[in-house]
Amino acid sequence: VPPRLPADELHAARRDRTLAVLEGFHAVKHALRFGARLDVLATSDAEALAALAAALAPDLAGVLRAHAQVVPRDVLAALVPRTPATRVVAVARRPAVDPAAVLAGGAGPVVLLEDPRHLGNVGAAVRVAAAAGADAVLTTGARDPWDPAALRGSAGLHFALAVARVEALPPTDRPLVALHPGGEPPAGGLPARSVLAFGTERHGLSEALLARAEHRVAIPMRPGVSSLNLATAVAVALYATGLARP
Ligand SMILES: C[S@@+](CC[C@H](N)C(=O)[O-])C[C@H]1O[C@@H](n2cnc3c(N)ncnc32)[C@H](O)[C@@H]1O
Repeated sequence: VPPRLPADELHAARRDRTLAVLEGFHAVKHALRFGARLDVLATSDAEALAALAAALAPDLAGVLRAHAQVVPRDVLAALVPRTPATRVVAVARRPAVDPAAVLAGGAGPVVLLEDPRHLGNVGAAVRVAAAAGADAVLTTGARDPWDPAALRGSAGLHFALAVARVEALPPTDRPLVALHPGGEPPAGGLPARSVLAFGTERHGLSEALLARAEHRVAIPMRPGVSSLNLATAVAVALYATGLARP
């Protein structure tokens, strides 16, 4: 962790697509556990940070103590729309991701979110993808999957797998499975080394992606229910590929 950056640089980090803003203790904890390189680790309450580390992340207590910079409350508040209850904010370098290489390697599923609109859904999808041992979450559309709101939703678990925006799904030898309420109920589990594609919240998957998919799979629902929430559908599908890989 280099010396403290001025507050205006910290503030600018929210708009810098090479940086990730981590809001709150859990996001910082997960990011560090999965190899994040922090530029800044700021708290306005060093004692509270030490107590949280002792209770929830004794593995990280030393690194947190060594690198935390105590800043006035107003500096912390200037960094984030709402000061986290744990009064910790960090800025980390985003890891470089090569989507084609990720698709070519790995043994777990890759989640493709087509034009997701709600960053909370993106974060929740990244969180469950990390938990289930997925290789990556790729998104299309205008939203930045590393937006601070998505990082809040994932509790910092973006660092546990590859997360990137792509213009379109690159060519891949993985089977493409479209999760689609109008598809067929799955005959068994879903293939592990696949691309699982999910549509945008309002309109679902595009015709182009549905046409490209080898399988169209519906998660069974009670009559009258039209669809699941996007991140919930991601969770169901991921766990249908077989449970978390180490
Ligand atoms: C909120 S839903 C979109 C609803 C949209 N009106 C439609 O019919 O697809 C967002 C995405 O979650 C996935 N999804 C939601 N419920 C699903 C289900 N029962 N089976 C399969 N996929 C589902 C699909 O990928 C869908 O595009």
